[in-house]
Amino acid sequence: MIAKRILVKFSGEALAGEDGYGIDPEIVKYIVTEIKQLVDNGIEIGIVVGGGNIIRGLSASKGGVISRTSGDYMGMLATMINGVAIQEALESVGVNTRLQSALDLKEIGEPFIVRRARRHLEKGRVVVFAGGSGNPFFTTDTAATLRASEIGAEMIIKATKVDGVYDKDPHKFDDAVKLDILSYDQALNEHIKVMDDTSIALAKENNLPIAVCNMFEKGNLLAIINGDKTKCSIVQ
Ligand code: GTP
Repeated sequence: MIAKRILVKFSGEALAGEDGYGIDPEIVKYIVTEIKQLVDNGIEIGIVVGGGNIIRGLSASKGGVISRTSGDYMGMLATMINGVAIQEALESVGVNTRLQSALDLKEIGEPFIVRRARRHLEKGRVVVFAGGSGNPFFTTDTAATLRASEIGAEMIIKATKVDGVYDKDPHKFDDAVKLDILSYDQALNEHIKVMDDTSIALAKENNLPIAVCNMFEKGNLLAIINGDKTKCSIVQ
């Protein structure tokens, strides 16, 4: 296994399923079953989830009615909703889970305390980090890289709908080739769409590899941890 402690980042949209909005219980069940496989293999897991299935700060603030700051806080609240769903779903398949929040919403989740999060991980609990980084103007991708660095994760798995990073847009070019490995600088220079520049820069600074993979292919997460590079693109 190439990592003992990892951070998995899911986009909020992934939870929405075909509807494109809200939470599809079947998708959440699928996701937690994939996570359980990792837990059963002794891997310590932190999860960061986005909120785009409910609201996106940037889009909400378009038109000037809602400020960007408030839009982003609305987005952070959306990640709380998703976090509760993931915690419940993980526990429904028998995975002990703790939800930690970057926002002070103590009725819903524990406050984010990194030392406590680490203890939970050591005890085999999955820790879901909700509320983004607690700050506007940062994406949940950046929150994922931040939390991964804080908990000492050895890698980030960015679980998406695509199976990796291509040398050109695979929707437009038939001869597009998936890159198994690319450097942080390459990812930054080419502005790969799967992860924003701030998060890549932070990962670079902390030497954190990012594996971009398709979460809808069964067993992918475990395959990646087992070192199968064909299942993802690794930014390192
Ligand atoms: P240990 O210290 O290892 O026993 O961890 P623990 O998380 O089991 O202990 P604790 O007694 O702190 O927490 C028991 C339950 O209460 C867990 O499900 C926690 O997530 C939850 N919990 C603890 N603090 C808070 C909080 O501030 N808010 C909310 N909503 N839940 C909390």
